[in-house]
Amino acid sequence: MIRRTTVPQIAQRKGGEPIVSLTSYHAHTAAIVDKYADFILVGDSLGMVMHGMDSTVGVPLDLMIMHGKAVVRGTQRALIVVDMPFGSYEESPSVAFRNAAKIMKETGCGAIKLEGGARMADTIRFLTERGIPVMAHIGLTPQSSHVLGGFKTQGRNEDTWAAHENDAKVVAEAGAFAVVLEGMVEPLASKITKQIDIPTIGIGASVDCDGQILVLEDMLGLNEWTPKFVKVYGDLGPQIEASVKAYAEEVKTRAFPTDAQTYT
Ligand code: KIV
Ligand code: NA
Repeated sequence: MIRRTTVPQIAQRKGGEPIVSLTSYHAHTAAIVDKYADFILVGDSLGMVMHGMDSTVGVPLDLMIMHGKAVVRGTQRALIVVDMPFGSYEESPSVAFRNAAKIMKETGCGAIKLEGGARMADTIRFLTERGIPVMAHIGLTPQSSHVLGGFKTQGRNEDTWAAHENDAKVVAEAGAFAVVLEGMVEPLASKITKQIDIPTIGIGASVDCDGQILVLEDMLGLNEWTPKFVKVYGDLGPQIEASVKAYAEEVKTRAFPTDAQTYT
């Protein structure tokens, strides 16, 4: 039996070999990512990437559970972390516990992730003390984009660093096993990584982070536009388009199907 990567195994990677992570929302892509990633995030970015939403604010809990189930089914090795969507945890620790437990019971994932620093400390402690491992997420937190005024890189003004540093310290003290640092200037992410004793997972952060994560569809080249922090490793958008175009032409010219594809 192949054992999945555990939460303590991720936590122990602080300062060690960088932690490899990608998002995935489906059984088929997750099965590929599973061969190389230490953990797979079923991110609420799926609302924008898979479902055409403008932001992650509208993502419902049931959608996270559906995609979470698919990714757990498609994988064997990686720790699966599922994002708690906007509105499912902010109100109180007990609301957060109820919804996090529902996600864990219904998907079989190993941990949840939620956005917010110091303001979420009580909730992080409440969950971890009751058996739910929490990955925190600070810096650019897309679920707060309406308050932040869009998706803005954090820490450009050095006066704001202390608040971000405090967020990282407080989520670690509250029991988070790792923290995503998203969209912040490099020296701040590097500084935070050195200040706390849980792994930092960077996205638009720093090469010094204890691990890196990207949205799979971004790095595969499925989007026409990607932010600066994405390195595009694949060319799937143009490849899919070329395949669909060739199919359309062959259907119209009756070049498809041939004998090879028919029961003669
Ligand atoms: O939803 C997501 O994909 C995320 C990552 C970008 C960290 O939260
Ligand atoms: Na997310």
